[in-house]
Amino acid sequence: MTVLLGDRYQTTDLLGVGGTASVYRAIDRNLGRDVAVKIFNATTSDDDDYRRQHTETILLSTLNHPGLVTLHDAGMHEDQEGRTAGFLVMELVDGEDLRHLLKRGALAADDVAQLGADLADALAYIHSEGVIHRDVKPANILMFHSGDNGTRLYPKLTDFGIARMVEATTATAVGATIGSANYLSPEQAKGDPLDERSDVYSLGLVLLECLTGEKSFPGPVVEAALARLLRDPEVPDSLGPDWSGLLRRMTARNPSLRPQAHDVALQLRSHAEALTVTRGIAPGAFTTHATSGTTGGTDDGDSVTGGVFTGTVHIPDPPSRAPRIS
Ligand SMILES: Nc1ncnc2c1ncn2[C@@H]1O[C@H](COP(=O)(O)OP(=O)(O)O)[C@@H](O)[C@H]1O
Ligand SMILES: [Mg+2]
Repeated sequence: MTVLLGDRYQTTDLLGVGGTASVYRAIDRNLGRDVAVKIFNATTSDDDDYRRQHTETILLSTLNHPGLVTLHDAGMHEDQEGRTAGFLVMELVDGEDLRHLLKRGALAADDVAQLGADLADALAYIHSEGVIHRDVKPANILMFHSGDNGTRLYPKLTDFGIARMVEATTATAVGATIGSANYLSPEQAKGDPLDERSDVYSLGLVLLECLTGEKSFPGPVVEAALARLLRDPEVPDSLGPDWSGLLRRMTARNPSLRPQAHDVALQLRSHAEALTVTRGIAPGAFTTHATSGTTGGTDDGDSVTGGVFTGTVHIPDPPSRAPRIS
């Protein structure tokens, strides 16, 4: 089924379904380019739904950062049954979301460091604008290839449906538990007031899962939510002291022990550089699933030079959805 929205956006394929909306690839007829259209589930006159959609629109329209999806347009659509649904038109991120990527297993440590630094930058930016995302999880992290010959994998954070301005944050457990509870911070699970350190906790769980391939707090909503109040996530020592130290601080149950997003970004950037340079000759400080990162067939670890490794990042697998030429 294809739909024409606002007399302008023709949907083609379904890209993803979340807790509140379906996201389609669409063609913008005016500009002749592909976009992503998020169509919210047709609302009854539910105030909470309406408020979430409004928040997402307003926040996305004011935020602007390479690590966030760009909002192009917003509107309302009436379907054949006469129900009204809001929609957002966004930049199309042509890859797969991190949840899909993680289904194939853990990522290489240097990729995780890059990814984590990029995401922490995006969080530092929104935090500096007074916004808390509140729903940092793999399904809300869109991955795309760019850089030298598309060899580098970049993330973009999306889904500001339950984001809030810091000062407006009260205990809204309903909004906070839409979808998956696997990545909630302890204060979110309790329904306590939140600040930006909640996002740092969630990012910590996401990065830990990227490294281990395992969810720290799996299972259904209530179990997953309760578990983190009783124990810290298990951070294996085998990740090495740099990773384990950082991840333990990010996922501290006491928010005041967590680093700020900006500090996470700085630390992960230097991790990423060290890992990229030492890949192949790492003294076992980091366990990775990495294959050799060389481009020129030089498999000799001892002869590593910046020239061989700079900018060469192992990409675990190509995206399952190839870009379409239409
Ligand atoms: N701009 C986009 N480009 C490509 N895919 C997207 C885009 N936005 C969302 N998606 C896909 O759609 C899914 C649901 O979108 P999301 O905004 O998270 O909706 P919900 O608020 O219902 O969770 C995402 O997990 C992702 O797979
Ligand atoms: Mg989502």
